[in-house]
Order: sequence, then C-alpha cells, then structure tokens
Amino acid sequence: MVDAESFIDDAVDEISEEIGDANAVIGLSGGVDSSVAAALTHRAIGDRLTAVYVDTGLMRKGETDEIRETFSFMDGLRIVHAEDRFLDALGGVTDPEEKRHVIGEAFIREFEREARDAGADFLVQGTIYPDRIESEGNIKSHHNVGGLPERVDFEGIVEPVRDLYKDEVREVARELGLEAVISERMPFPGPGLAVRVIGEVTKEKLEVARDACHVVEEELEAYEPWQAFAAVVGKATGVKGDNRVHGWIVAVRSVESRDGMTARAQELDWETLQRIQSRITGTNENVARVVYDVTHKPPATIEYE
Ligand code: XMP
Repeated sequence: MVDAESFIDDAVDEISEEIGDANAVIGLSGGVDSSVAAALTHRAIGDRLTAVYVDTGLMRKGETDEIRETFSFMDGLRIVHAEDRFLDALGGVTDPEEKRHVIGEAFIREFEREARDAGADFLVQGTIYPDRIESEGNIKSHHNVGGLPERVDFEGIVEPVRDLYKDEVREVARELGLEAVISERMPFPGPGLAVRVIGEVTKEKLEVARDACHVVEEELEAYEPWQAFAAVVGKATGVKGDNRVHGWIVAVRSVESRDGMTARAQELDWETLQRIQSRITGTNENVARVVYDVTHKPPATIEYE
C-alpha cells in the first residue's frame, strides 16, 4: 500500500514540474480517480486547471448536481450539457466496442472545444494501473485512455495516479480531505450507463437503468460491494392486470473485488433481493422482471458490455 502523505507531496511536485507555467484541462467524471487527479493538480497549479464535467446523459441519478456541489471550490469547473449530442451519436449503434468508440469520439469533440477555450497545453487524466493493463492487453478500450491524446494537440499528458490501484486512490482521496461521497464512491465506467443497457442506447432504456441503479446502490450499501448496479438486458413477457405485456428485463449485479480485474458475485439475502425487485418494478411499470446475476469475473465481466 502506498504511503498517501508522501505520495501526495511527490505527485504535486511532479505535476508542478511537468506543467510549469502552462494551463491544463481534466475531464472530471465524478469518480474517485479523476477527482483525485483533479485535486492533486489543483494543489499543484491552482486555477490554471480547468476541470470539465461533461453531462453525457449516461450518468447516475443526481450526479451532475453532486458534482456541481462537491467541486464548487474549483473556480475552473465547467459543466457541459451534451446529452443530446451523445444520444444522437449513439443512435443505431449496437456493437459494444463500437459504442465505446462512439462515446470516446463524442468526448473528444467536447474536450477539443473546452481545452481550446481554456488555452490548455496539458491534459490531465485519472487513469489508474488496472485501466492501463486492460487497455494494453486489448481486453477492452477505455474511453479515458484511447483516442484523446492522439487527436488533441496537447503538449503533454499528465496521469498522476497511473501507478495506483483503486484502494490506494481511495487512501489518497481521504488524505487529500475529499468528501466521503467521493473517496468511497463505487467505480462507475467511463461510458456510463451505455454499457448497462444491452444493444442500442435509448432514452427509455437509460431511464430504466438509471432508476434501477439508484435503487440497487441504496439497498446494497450495507453490503459494501465493490460495485452494485442494475442493467437493462433485454425484453421478456410479463403480466399487467389481465394482459400479457412485453417489458424490460433488469439484471441486478453486486460484486466484491480489489481491483476490478477479478470479482466475486455477492451472496445477498432473499428479503433484500425481493425489496429490490419490488422497488424496481414499482418505479417503472415497463419492467417485466428482475433477475440477480450470480456469475463471478471470470468468466463474466463486471459490466454488461
Ligand atoms: P469489466 O466490466 O471489464 O470492468 O469487468 C472492470 C472495471 O472497470 C470499469 N470499467 C470502465 N472504467 N472506462 C472506465 O473508466 C471504461 O470504459 C470502463 N469499462 C469498465 C467497470 O465498471 C469495473 O469497475
């Protein structure tokens, strides 16, 4: 485990040296990795850092408001409303890898503009060690690793937490004094809810996934999962009144893990599962059934796409 205090001192020195008198931009996702990278860089270069939060419409319930509040101390916080642009770009796209690429491209476009406006020469990224390993091994493309550096004309890329595991990033977040809502936050994939709806991304599926994820996060907090969420995985027959209907299948997933590279499905009690089922079907009348995913990683991944 890294010594958080000395890590921070070294990281701040290194960032100051790398960026010098220039300006930098960071994409803030609300997750612990980019938050720590932003806080470290803010310590190093202050208001010469512009933190850009892109509301892609693929975020968790209430996330944009939380970001606005949590990072209100940063003068350089920019919130970009890009929901419609992301949905348009994702129209008709069903292949999982293509979805990631489309989202990556859409991010780049938002960033190019913001970085230009900020006059930023450096791009700061919250890439952590497992992201690099999985991307280098071509296991999947991380939108926060691929694409951006090649397309945007930055003088340099700064990745202050590139050698840390997630639990070490959390330790650094606590030491930096970031709020628990950030330091203890569950990982959330860069492509957001797009990888929690199978097939084409639509507004309706996103709403089902967003509400269901919120229920699962609330209900399973006490289990302290590495990640707990819900995904819209298809359609199935259900019954409403006297009629058979075709509604959404929502899969609930809750896993334990150290670094996300392997994971174990959590054992949950029946009452909790039933409460989740009844809240999800109660919130959205178009959900026909709720299932619980008992698969470990491997052979499954944590996310659905
Ligand atoms: P999988 O689904 O591959 O995910 O088992 C492992 C961990 O990585 C997160 N994840 C991502 N994080 N960009 C990210 O920043 C991505 O494209 C991405 N895809 C998956 C996932 O939530 C899990 O914690």
